[in-house]
Amino acid sequence: METSTLILGAGAAGLFCAGLGPPGTVVLDHAARPAEKVRISGGGRCNFTNLGTRPESFLSRNPHFAKSALASYTARDFLALVESHRVPWHEKTLGQLFCDRSSKDIVALLLAEAERARAEVRLRATIGEVGHDGTRFTVETDRGTLRARRLVVATGGKSIPRMGATGLAYRIAERFGLPVTDTRPALVPFTFGDRFADLAGLSVPVAAQARGPAFAEAMLFTHRGLSGPAMLQASSYWREGEELAVALAPDTDWAEALREGRKAAPRQSLKAFLASRLPARLADYLAAEMELNGNLAGLSEARITALSRALSDWRLRPTGTEGYRTAEVTLGGVDTKALDSRTMEAKAVPGLYFIGECVDVTGWLGGYNFQWAWSSAAACARAL
Ligand code: FDA
Repeated sequence: METSTLILGAGAAGLFCAGLGPPGTVVLDHAARPAEKVRISGGGRCNFTNLGTRPESFLSRNPHFAKSALASYTARDFLALVESHRVPWHEKTLGQLFCDRSSKDIVALLLAEAERARAEVRLRATIGEVGHDGTRFTVETDRGTLRARRLVVATGGKSIPRMGATGLAYRIAERFGLPVTDTRPALVPFTFGDRFADLAGLSVPVAAQARGPAFAEAMLFTHRGLSGPAMLQASSYWREGEELAVALAPDTDWAEALREGRKAAPRQSLKAFLASRLPARLADYLAAEMELNGNLAGLSEARITALSRALSDWRLRPTGTEGYRTAEVTLGGVDTKALDSRTMEAKAVPGLYFIGECVDVTGWLGGYNFQWAWSSAAACARAL
């Protein structure tokens, strides 16, 4: 069978590209249902974009690569499409846009757009060898060989293998001699053995930092370690063996608060002081870990400085992360130096395109990864 354009992967990027691409495009996916990650995203409400999208919110070996695609299909453009489909939405914190009802509204939007463009979505398709016969790309499937002049690879990353993630895009890139950067799980919870098991369920505001910027968001204690938006964000910048710096109650000037407490309530115990500003279970934990005995009256200036630093620069060394099993995204991917930033086409292989998560462009938490899927798909579709 022959078609002009073949897209591998009926996820966010692949379906969106099909909706904007030429009529007759065929989309192949091995899953039983399209866009499963869209369906489960954002806790079932799909954080479909972020109004504050800027190139600085993405990690890549080449921080400039995403600029062109992000500028030519913006968060406002996707929002206009959402509104044209009458999908009710709301803004949560920090420009994050979510569906009011369900992420299924976005899946339906993507399928409706693909249908309008007369694309054909073939599910439960097993993809085998991918090659080139001199004039056409060839894709072996369980239902025969497909041939196409243009091949768009949109099969995502390695995160959540039980949902069908396979790393196929990297193998195709390598098959055509394109470089792939190291890949690792990102937006992923940290493990700490059972160190925080007694605190499981607690959520506290923090500013968390690995190598990159500090993220002032919530941190969640889990049975296995630390999660919540602040930790997921920091995980994208963390490397094995390194420490995290956590500022507890980041809006609090701890030194000032301790001095005021010493004056106003000198007999208050240090533990009670902490419990007045942090959840009691965490205050207990910290008091034991930092060996905080005595009351505020006994605090010297040197001790206030040391304590304040310990609370605003709490150093933690994770044992690891939960890995691809729960990571929201894969950091790294097809090296952007091999791709044209305006079209996502492989510079050395005309007609071959990579879009979405399989490219070495990874967004922060907060709708940025879907915006990259939409923007990279739109850039590619314009060139098809
Ligand atoms: P995507 O993974 O969507 O699609 C790839 C498709 O290729 C899949 O349909 C898969 O079945 C198919 N495929 C893979 N290998 C194949 C093979 N060998 N043969 C055939 N088909 C194959 N982002 C965001 O911006 N806001 C959010 O709210 C969330 N929430 C969220 C929650 C959870 C739990 C996860 C895991 C992830 C998120 N994300 C997110 C991230 C977001 O889901 C992700 O960045 C995009 O789905 C990436 O879109 P792609 O189209 O590139 O890959």
